[in-house]
Amino acid sequence: MLPYLLLIAVLPLTQGVRIIQTNQDGWSEANVRTFLDVLSTMGHDVLLSAPRYSYSVPPSMPNTTDCDNPPGCGDLSIDDIYGYNRTNLRLGFMNASQVRPIRNGIRHVGPRLWNQQKAELVLAGPDIGHTLGTDQITAPSVQAVKYAAHEEKIPAISFAGATGALTSWNAPTPSYSMIYAQLAENITSTVVRGGKPYLPSNTYLHVNFPRVTDERCNALSDFKFVLTRSRLGRGLHTRWCKRWGFPLETDVMRERGDECFVTISPGHANRQLSGPGVLAERKIIQRLGPILVCLPEA
Ligand SMILES: *[C@@H]1O[C@H](CO)[C@@H](O)[C@H](O)[C@H]1NC(C)=O
Ligand SMILES: *[C@@H]1O[C@H](CO)[C@@H](O)[C@H](O)[C@H]1NC(C)=O
Ligand SMILES: *[C@@H]1O[C@H](CO)[C@@H](O)[C@H](O)[C@H]1NC(C)=O
Ligand SMILES: *[C@@H]1O[C@H](CO)[C@@H](O)[C@H](O)[C@H]1NC(C)=O
Repeated sequence: MLPYLLLIAVLPLTQGVRIIQTNQDGWSEANVRTFLDVLSTMGHDVLLSAPRYSYSVPPSMPNTTDCDNPPGCGDLSIDDIYGYNRTNLRLGFMNASQVRPIRNGIRHVGPRLWNQQKAELVLAGPDIGHTLGTDQITAPSVQAVKYAAHEEKIPAISFAGATGALTSWNAPTPSYSMIYAQLAENITSTVVRGGKPYLPSNTYLHVNFPRVTDERCNALSDFKFVLTRSRLGRGLHTRWCKRWGFPLETDVMRERGDECFVTISPGHANRQLSGPGVLAERKIIQRLGPILVCLPEA
């Protein structure tokens, strides 16, 4: 992965942030590892605590990029439930989905690594395939970030990308992994740059990246960030881009994916598919303002 990383313009942060990463495609998947490398290059202090297997692939397909036999894997420590890479203790996994790996990272592994300090940010993914609208209800990564934001009071963001297939951490890095990782890093840096609190309390962000193809959406400068919502809601709406409420994530992704929009949907961490409320949405608009565009009329 290193040659790719040299291409990134490194803008060092004044201070790295303690980040726990997770995903739903397994700890050894290329997307999460590429994102980890990018975050580390930016000076963040990153710990991976993810499921061992992918929870996104159909049961008939191989569900892991892991391997049970070193030396390809390096020196792994594995018991029934918990494992980690003995030569890089920051790479850990659990044979469990949803909240267990992230809870273990937040409560046990992180504090040991960081001198009893808690993680400051939780990032999930990028996972393979969109997570749109009601998909969020069952998506393990969304469960994980909602848990972090609600139960552990740690700001959290989940990422999903339309393009990809399970790829092993030690295979050549796919170009979509590199693009998604850098877009995710851009959103992360924008959230962190304004200082704490990074996000309003009990709020998470769910991000979808559009398809990366040979023809389009394959250079960083092609992508544009828009605020969206996961479903049509009743109640109060925030005024933004000369309209009330954000456009629907599903509409933007399904109908306008070719225009390279990245959708960012703020969510309420202990409600199902609900926005976080007008006050929180205003704070998010302020925080993400530097990178947002208004969705142009179709
Ligand atoms: C993945 O495959 C392994 C081995 O076949 C199996 O033990 C495990 O339960 C599967 N996990 C998921 C999430 O499908
Ligand atoms: C474990 O860490 C070593 C050293 O960084 C690395 O060479 C190996 O690929 C890693 N394996 C996994 C599965 O992370
Ligand atoms: C992972 O968990 C599943 C279900 O609990 C179990 O069947 C399987 O043997 C476990 N795999 C490993 C490698 O521990
Ligand atoms: C982040 O995204 C914004 C908006 O697309 C762009 O102007 C900026 O150059 C990006 N920053 C980095 C470091 O990629």
